[in-house]
Amino acid sequence: MNTPTTTTRRSVLKLLAASTAAPLILPGRLFGADAPSKKITIGCIGVGWQGGENLQSFLGQDDCRVVAICDVDESHLNEAINKVNGHYNNKDCKGYKDFEELLARKDIDAVCICTPDHWHSIPAIAAANAGKDIFCEKPLSHTLSEGIAMVNAVHKNKRIWQTGSWQRAQASFRWAAEIVQNGYLGKITRVEVGLPSGHSDFNGTGNDKPNGAAPAGVDYERWIGPSQMMPFNPCRFHKNWRWNYNTGGGQLMDWIGHHNDIAHWGLANPEFGCGPDDAVGPLEVSATAEFPAKTDVWNTATKYRIECKYPNNIEYIIAGGYEEIKGGAKWIGPNGWLRVDRGTLEASNKDWIREIQKLDKAGTLKVQLYNSPGHHKEFLDSVKSRKRTLTPVEIAHRSQTPGHLGYIASIVGRKLKWDAVKQEIVGDPEATALLSKKMRSPWHI
Ligand SMILES: NC(=O)c1ccc[n+]([C@@H]2O[C@H](COP(=O)([O-])OP(=O)(O)OC[C@H]3O[C@@H](n4cnc5c(N)ncnc54)[C@H](O)[C@@H]3O)[C@@H](O)[C@H]2O)c1
Repeated sequence: MNTPTTTTRRSVLKLLAASTAAPLILPGRLFGADAPSKKITIGCIGVGWQGGENLQSFLGQDDCRVVAICDVDESHLNEAINKVNGHYNNKDCKGYKDFEELLARKDIDAVCICTPDHWHSIPAIAAANAGKDIFCEKPLSHTLSEGIAMVNAVHKNKRIWQTGSWQRAQASFRWAAEIVQNGYLGKITRVEVGLPSGHSDFNGTGNDKPNGAAPAGVDYERWIGPSQMMPFNPCRFHKNWRWNYNTGGGQLMDWIGHHNDIAHWGLANPEFGCGPDDAVGPLEVSATAEFPAKTDVWNTATKYRIECKYPNNIEYIIAGGYEEIKGGAKWIGPNGWLRVDRGTLEASNKDWIREIQKLDKAGTLKVQLYNSPGHHKEFLDSVKSRKRTLTPVEIAHRSQTPGHLGYIASIVGRKLKWDAVKQEIVGDPEATALLSKKMRSPWHI
């Protein structure tokens, strides 16, 4: 077994802490000056499907208190406020339609952002500038340029960030990344990331309803926000907004922050020549995709295949709708292969799995990855300790990068060369223009 030498994230942090003369000083307002107790105070922005799940998770944590909710749909807003007040048995939770008002509250320490993808970057950057720590959903951003701006804002303001890529908090995904990072497969030569294809009707609307009026109590102008104004259509509203490029990125971008995040995690061993986990990424990207008509209500790719070259000559495929590319993340090396998906951990050599589980439990692995106490709890722990979380903003950004580039390559129909250090497409102005989208006034980043 090849067991390369490397350093873990926590050991790097320990080294950094040890080499820093100044003591760690927590900001005075960390626990919210006006908070009812010394708990981390949280405001939730966007409380639909996943926002409701995250809210429930934060309500279940003893060291935080949800004090504010923001949503542009009154019915979601009121339901969430009632849930919070019912949980704490009081009437303290305040509701907002405009996230700026929530962010202006000095007593709020952290926010949980679960708006649709086109609405991540603006509130996240505003939250970072307002000094809040941030739990934000995947995929990090609607365009690659927005992702760069988010990383910069979070770093500039020294905020703690957790992405909703919760698979890193699950044992089977950690074991998979440990098997790969500890060199059981040898130096990785090929990676396959299998994501869903087609569209999923999450709201039972189908995709062929006519335009109409937005439901009462919905501020549709704010819901569409920085995206191009389109008439209200129930098929591209709550949950199903994913299937229109104006607001989402289809199955590719809906899942890239899960399985590609895990695939990158496995490669985050500098000995593979891919760099540390916040720098893993492609050098070349080509892609093909099948799209419905641009004018269809659901117009995102139904089938796609992205072929990348990663450092160290790794062949890297991300695909949806190709039977031979199975769901989840699969790594292949000279010693065999390993695949992990929700509910599956399989390898060409089953002994690797048994051994890693034993060594992981004993804490004796050469590359021992952090055993998360739970994705939301780990975020709160980091808010207190100021240690990097398992899914910080820069990692989320790198995890989604080949998805954005793959989409662009499929549009321009040629191979892109990616300068991963400058984060620029080399020598292709047409493709470069697609790294960002014009935001609808008055919204901008
Ligand atoms: N981590 C996961 O497993 C997971 C699962 C599902 C969704 N998600 C992510 O969560 C995010 C939300 O997805 P969803 O399925 O919950 O969508 P959703 O449509 O169910 O909910 C979005 C909510 O945001 C609100 N909203 C829209 N614009 C707003 C604004 N400007 N200010 C405040 N509220 C606003 C909507 O009214 C709605 O209540 C997406 O980024 C999605 O990719 C992650």
